[in-house]
Amino acid sequence: MTVAPRFQHRNGTLHAEDVSLTDLAKEHGTPLYVYSRAALHDAWEGYARALQGRKSLVCFGMKANSNLAVLSEFSRLGAGFDIVSGGELARVLAAGGDPGKVVFSGVGKQAWEMQAALDAGVKCFNVESEPELERLSEVASTRGRRARISLRVNPDVDARTHPYISTGLKENKFGIPIEAAPEVYRRATRLPGIEIVGVDCHIGSQITEESPYLDALDKLILLITNLKAEGIELQHLDLGGGIGIRYTDETLIEPVTLFNQVFERLKNAGLGHLELVLEPGRSLVGNAGVLLTEVQYLKHSDAKNFAIVDAAMNDLLRPTLYDAWHGVEPVVPRPVTSATLSYDVVGPICESGDWLAKDRRLELHPGDVLAIMSAGAYAFTMSSQYNSRPRPAEIMVDGTRSHVVRQRETIESLFDLETVLPQT
Ligand code: LLP
Repeated sequence: MTVAPRFQHRNGTLHAEDVSLTDLAKEHGTPLYVYSRAALHDAWEGYARALQGRKSLVCFGMKANSNLAVLSEFSRLGAGFDIVSGGELARVLAAGGDPGKVVFSGVGKQAWEMQAALDAGVKCFNVESEPELERLSEVASTRGRRARISLRVNPDVDARTHPYISTGLKENKFGIPIEAAPEVYRRATRLPGIEIVGVDCHIGSQITEESPYLDALDKLILLITNLKAEGIELQHLDLGGGIGIRYTDETLIEPVTLFNQVFERLKNAGLGHLELVLEPGRSLVGNAGVLLTEVQYLKHSDAKNFAIVDAAMNDLLRPTLYDAWHGVEPVVPRPVTSATLSYDVVGPICESGDWLAKDRRLELHPGDVLAIMSAGAYAFTMSSQYNSRPRPAEIMVDGTRSHVVRQRETIESLFDLETVLPQT
């Protein structure tokens, strides 16, 4: 398996680092999320090496995985965070993250979220519209403050990824059209509660080619140069996140190749002094996690064979939402023979869309434990309790040790916050 080097079979059993996934499934039950600390470090190192000696800040796009253990680990490694809500800010603070390294993105920031972020002292607000700019100025100036901002511009480039996760096209709701940006910057210079510090864009997610980044960069360079000529000086350029990971056989962007070109182009444009901010999410955590699930039943019909497992779309929404492909690895694989069938791996939820994988040739028996691969990003964070299913526990493996970093939800907790109506 080349997808996730920290998850390897040893003596016939899939391990996370030095810990057997059979043992973890026995000890904690299934479904179960298992992360590898070393895999987080590996992914971080990929960025650290590519950015070494450059003025840069990596802000983990924490919507991909916001477990406090993951956040605190990245924080210790020097990361900042890209947040999109007051809730995410609170998580950063709870994990001991540095608010001075936080960028606040999102199209719908509310006044209370702006206030909380100002109080915490975030590095920058990535402002996505003129009304947001005005509200932010008002919130900041009534507290005698100035909010540091970037405008998130929409460069109208095609990231050539799934339409639901492409964000840099004209028709997307994100950012300010790049042609309109100079006027909004001018407006920003006149607002009392605003201090302009940068420019930002994020063109999409699971991007596997360099050219959309470079096309966006060229457009941003032109904008920055024009602003400079008007006396509007920026300190940083935020290129967002989006670098893809290998779910199956995708070709990947090498951070070092991409960023060398980015720095080269900035230098050639006389903008070598700018700090480069990045907001990677998936590429820092995606292949650092798996979802363990136990086969409950094998069911055969004329048209299909189903492996009904105990994880479902509420635990991992990506297959049904994006038609996404996740690898499926039996934790203790059985030999595949000519009689081995192809299965759709499906959950117990009452929806036809409740599937995790389709047409996988696997030798399976009820009771087998499967690892759904690449479940470190947009997996737990997109989970729900649909069908009143408590969310799984999350485990962080570190060498030979493992830590419960989120307990399994209890059945009672599902309706903890609810009340029945009075009798009268
Ligand atoms: N910055 C901003 C402003 C974003 O909107 C996102 C992701 C990121 C950074 C991080 O992007 P990444 O490096 O993870 O690609 N749920 C989808 C992905 C949605 C991405 C949303 N924005 C999925 O499971 O594929």
